[in-house]
Amino acid sequence: MSDYLWFEGIPFPDVGFEKEIIKETRDNFVMRDEDTVILTYPKSGTNWVIEMVCLIQSKGDPNWIQSVPIWDRSPWIESQRGYQKLINKEGPRLISSHLPFHLFPKSFFSSKAKMIYMIRNPRDVLVSGYFFWSKTKFVRSPESMTTYFEWFLKGNVLCGSWFEHTRAWLSMRESDNFLLLSYKDMKQDTKSTIKKICDFLGKRLEPDELDMVLKYSSFQAMKENKMSNFSLLTKNVAANDLVLLRKGMAGDWKNHFTVAQAEAFDEVFQEKMAGFPSGLFPWE
Ligand code: A3P
Repeated sequence: MSDYLWFEGIPFPDVGFEKEIIKETRDNFVMRDEDTVILTYPKSGTNWVIEMVCLIQSKGDPNWIQSVPIWDRSPWIESQRGYQKLINKEGPRLISSHLPFHLFPKSFFSSKAKMIYMIRNPRDVLVSGYFFWSKTKFVRSPESMTTYFEWFLKGNVLCGSWFEHTRAWLSMRESDNFLLLSYKDMKQDTKSTIKKICDFLGKRLEPDELDMVLKYSSFQAMKENKMSNFSLLTKNVAANDLVLLRKGMAGDWKNHFTVAQAEAFDEVFQEKMAGFPSGLFPWE
């Protein structure tokens, strides 16, 4: 059974990751002003944003997203494979990451690189993570929702505590090079979110190109795209029935939490996220 690779108190997958690379990423990775970073806490809808940004870059043409695996289009900076790809790539790069603020490349904070940060109701993040990690073989696998619920509240899950990750990254929310998105808003009005991303990245799309971005980044289209739905993951890291695109809804936690869990979660949320303006979290 897999466990975590721990780096400075943060759990990482124990396949495809190395402490030296995580350290190297923080200390020596050189961010370029023209880079775009997609940063999330795991299971927040990361791959949805990546797909959208790729489609915006190709002006809605699906050729790229249907021919190159999603992890090679926007490599994971903290992974062995992603790090190598990124340091060897010339020109503007699309970079994905789940790193907590304090482990992210120091060079980013003095660069003009743009960051898209997506947040999702942590209750849905928890449920999505439980179903996903139960089918993978590169992190500690929870035997029940009850167990995973406890791990999540303690931060003993991939990338550590949702609360700490989110608190730290949200400190950048007033920066010009930081775009804050929420999964709920993106579900409710996907087209507006695509326009917001275009404005942020300085891209202009014709109405028909925007429609193509919308069409090819939809839940169904991504579920059918083998370059994006994780069906290319090999048997040694994922069970046959692993699905990335499981339900794709906001509020699924209500189908899984007990009343006691919902109350316990509310209490922790209020305590840990105190001080943020009301309205920042659209699900509260
Ligand atoms: P569920 O497990 O709740 O279905 P990540 O990409 O960060 O791993 O997040 C995965 C979650 O994002 C999954 O949530 C998945 O269904 C959802 N997701 C991925 N693509 C989506 C899309 N095009 N539309 C809506 N949700 C999407």
